[in-house]
Amino acid sequence: VDAASSDQLEGRPVWAAVPGFPRGLGFVSHARALADTQSGQIAFLATPARTAAELTPTLLERGLRVIDLSGGHRLPAEQYPDWYGFEHPFPDALDEAVYGLPELLPAGALASARLVANPGCYATAAALAAAPLLKARLVRPGAPLVIDGKSGTTGAGKTLSEPMLFSEAADDVRPYRVGKHQHTPEIERALSRYAHAIVKVAFTPHVVPMRRGLLCSVYAPASDEAKPEDVVAAFDGVYAEAPGVEVRADAPPETKRTLHAPQAEVWGHLDPRTGTLSAFCALDNLVKGAAGQAIQNMNALIGEHLQAGLQPAPRSAT
Ligand SMILES: NC(=O)c1ccc[n+]([C@@H]2O[C@H](COP(=O)([O-])OP(=O)(O)OC[C@H]3O[C@@H](n4cnc5c(N)ncnc54)[C@H](OP(=O)(O)O)[C@@H]3O)[C@@H](O)[C@H]2O)c1
Repeated sequence: VDAASSDQLEGRPVWAAVPGFPRGLGFVSHARALADTQSGQIAFLATPARTAAELTPTLLERGLRVIDLSGGHRLPAEQYPDWYGFEHPFPDALDEAVYGLPELLPAGALASARLVANPGCYATAAALAAAPLLKARLVRPGAPLVIDGKSGTTGAGKTLSEPMLFSEAADDVRPYRVGKHQHTPEIERALSRYAHAIVKVAFTPHVVPMRRGLLCSVYAPASDEAKPEDVVAAFDGVYAEAPGVEVRADAPPETKRTLHAPQAEVWGHLDPRTGTLSAFCALDNLVKGAAGQAIQNMNALIGEHLQAGLQPAPRSAT
């Protein structure tokens, strides 16, 4: 790591703010980090979406490659005012951005990318759960997917807000941003591209009283031909070569099993009684749902094994 930037933490050692980070590197201001950038470096942006959208063209012009962990490059320009509340300042960059959900991309799709849109946490889990159902055409044609997402409080980021105070969030489960969450169009776009068909989703996120961990449950009516064994085959087929996704053999995933881990867990099921498909994905929203996926994307950019540098968490960490 050549530089880490923060105006608030300028001058402080990175390890003091990021437990486990090797000693020796200190935070520099954003201006200093930008001035010191060099061609060939990779910049990770974990800023507000608008900031990332504004910074990216400068970094690309300087010969850096960019992995944007914010929502600054995940949607078409016309959707930014509705879902992010701003006009995208550099729509040309959106044409170039590759949506970095490596397990659902063709091999080599990221190798020459200059700009990677690192997917959102809910979007990652929803897409990983739903993709096998769509690829195997198990969902009744035209039916929307109903997606129920649950996340710990770190899903709201570090910005101070009253509903996320311990006193407010503890002992409570609540839906939020119903019909308005910015990952809704992101999920639709990712799945529509993957399935080569228009996919609509009704997505409701919930905040649950834990710090980290995220579960998406996806429901859809099954096509007339779908059988329970097709669901098993669909998940095994899509993720056979995917080191970042573990298909559970005979039980739904649990967030506890994925805490601190770079892998997501998935599982699908068909209830023949009601003809309803259900699919689940659990992940750590700060690892496979954010920083771990960004490292996977960096590995894809530089030709490393996807999981290089990402150690499976010891079960004791859960
Ligand atoms: N996976 C998840 O569950 C999850 C959840 C929420 C958010 N996120 C993503 O994580 C990131 C951080 O989110 P957040 O809600 O904690 O905080 P945020 O308000 O979105 O971003 C704060 C960070 O952006 C930096 N920043 C602000 N303006 C900047 C500028 N002009 N140039 C460079 N850096 C600038 C801040 O630097 P200072 O240190 O100087 O203040 C701070 O480090 C975002 O990209 C967000 O999309 C992920």
